[in-house]
Amino acid sequence: MLPSLSSVVSPPPLPVVVPFVFVFILIVYTLSHHRKQPYKLRLPPGSMGWPYIGETLKLFTENPNSFFSDRAKRYGKIFKTHILGCPCVMISSPELAKIVLVTQSHLFKPTYPPSKEKMIGPQAIFFHQGPYHSHLKKLIQSSFLPSTIKRSVSQIEDIVLGFLPNWEHNKTINTLQEMKMYAFEVAMISVFGNKLEGEEMEGIKGLYQCLEKGYNSMPLDLPGTPFNKAMKARRGLNEKLRRIIEKRKESGENGEGLLGVFLRSNEEGMKMKMNESQIADNIIGVIFAAHDTTASVLTWLLKYLHDYPHLLDAVRREQEEIRCKRVEANRGITWEDTRRMPLTTQVIQETLRASSILSFTYREAVEDVEMEGYFIPKGWKVLPLFRTIHYSSDFFPNPNKFDPSRFQVTPRPNTYMPFGNGAHSCPGSDLAKLEMLVLLHHLTTTLRWEVIGDDDGIQYGPFPVPQHGLPIKVCPLN
Ligand code: HEM
Ligand SMILES: *[C@@H]1O[C@H](CO)[C@@H](O)[C@H](O)[C@H]1NC(C)=O
Ligand SMILES: *[C@@H]1O[C@H](CO)[C@@H](O)[C@H](O)[C@H]1NC(C)=O
Repeated sequence: MLPSLSSVVSPPPLPVVVPFVFVFILIVYTLSHHRKQPYKLRLPPGSMGWPYIGETLKLFTENPNSFFSDRAKRYGKIFKTHILGCPCVMISSPELAKIVLVTQSHLFKPTYPPSKEKMIGPQAIFFHQGPYHSHLKKLIQSSFLPSTIKRSVSQIEDIVLGFLPNWEHNKTINTLQEMKMYAFEVAMISVFGNKLEGEEMEGIKGLYQCLEKGYNSMPLDLPGTPFNKAMKARRGLNEKLRRIIEKRKESGENGEGLLGVFLRSNEEGMKMKMNESQIADNIIGVIFAAHDTTASVLTWLLKYLHDYPHLLDAVRREQEEIRCKRVEANRGITWEDTRRMPLTTQVIQETLRASSILSFTYREAVEDVEMEGYFIPKGWKVLPLFRTIHYSSDFFPNPNKFDPSRFQVTPRPNTYMPFGNGAHSCPGSDLAKLEMLVLLHHLTTTLRWEVIGDDDGIQYGPFPVPQHGLPIKVCPLN
């Protein structure tokens, strides 16, 4: 990024301008931050770095994980820093994270860059607090409760059984890409039910891929930029959704999936009706939240199982036993089967901890807040650091060891947060785990996989995943 920046700025005036710009920024910064602090409370410890650039450069040049854990070690469980021009307070203890996310969550609102909000849709659940948020949350949760998703087990299994033969025949595959397709299809059936036509599905998938590319790029809205294309794709998705809703209304049926739940709640004379953009933004938002996250964790699962063959053997034995019963009774996998996979479940829990794909989340103080004897000014960002907590040896002894057996004992409350905590915690956690169990069942009992290359690198896209999306070579088990 830096080289392209210097080619835009014409060189001669630069040495003259730079000092003035810095002095100006410093003055504005000092004035805007010179506020009276109540009760002479201190700001949390920590270094703020330069005002705009702050410690952002360090964050991007250092490994982000050591960036946070080094500072947590130096300053303790609450410290301040600067990221992308915003003063931030980092939280690295379970007790303080609980205050921010659960007990005092009304003082800390979710916050996202405006460009991302525009792209997902401003009415989506992530961006809201209060009655609108809790109404939506109830509807979404009801769609993803165990009692609801257990009805989708055989549909999820059908998707898996559609994919696996391709893997075997096309000897090398890109794990992340395949997992994205899988998680996308599962997200689509949970949102629309099982009745989308192939053509409709493909259209939506193409628009989605475009949206995602723009989401992860610079928010530069000029003709031809990924951002610009993504905003077009976003409008396209609205149009597709509008047509699907129209069809359902014409047929007089609200239909299946989360969309059915939204439409039904509007009919049932609920106090809170959702208008068209509220429905669209939330359908698109849920698909967005559901597929990249799950695909990234699935990719880590295959990586860890490959790296720890004794665990893979044990998982395979557990799954083989279930497969035998299943084959004997000539039936597919059931919800009850997935409840009898203790070892596989522990491997998934440990993968969620070790990969901590959401390393942290963002909130913003809605008023001046006092915490631990420190002062957090209104408007400051507050970041609970999930990964730092997941890698603290106080709660997870020997944290760098991949050890599923640690989950034979339930973790201490508020120390294990792969799906967040409190008001905004993830409503899709049970679906995500179900997808992983169903895939692992068929994968481990029919196929073997070799990782291509011995690269232990990590790439961010934006979630951390193994380098190059983990290319693997697949062949039949026997
Ligand atoms: C392994 C996969 C997944 C992981 C690791 C994950 C993680 C998370 C986390 C940490 C949050 C809280 C963010 C915060 O507090 O700022 C969250 C929120 C959310 N997740 Fe997930 N998620 C996953 C899969 C899913 C799935 C399958 C769905 C589909 C329903 C989903 C839907 C959502 C929604 C709608 C929210 C926002 C909730 C709110 O704001 O109240 N997620 N997720
Ligand atoms: C095989 O998989 C790779 C990566 O997933 C893909 O790019 C390629 O098109 C596939 N080839 C066939 C013949 O399916
Ligand atoms: C839906 O309601 C929201 C919130 O009241 C509003 O901002 C938005 O413009 C409305 N959209 C439509 C299409 O009516």
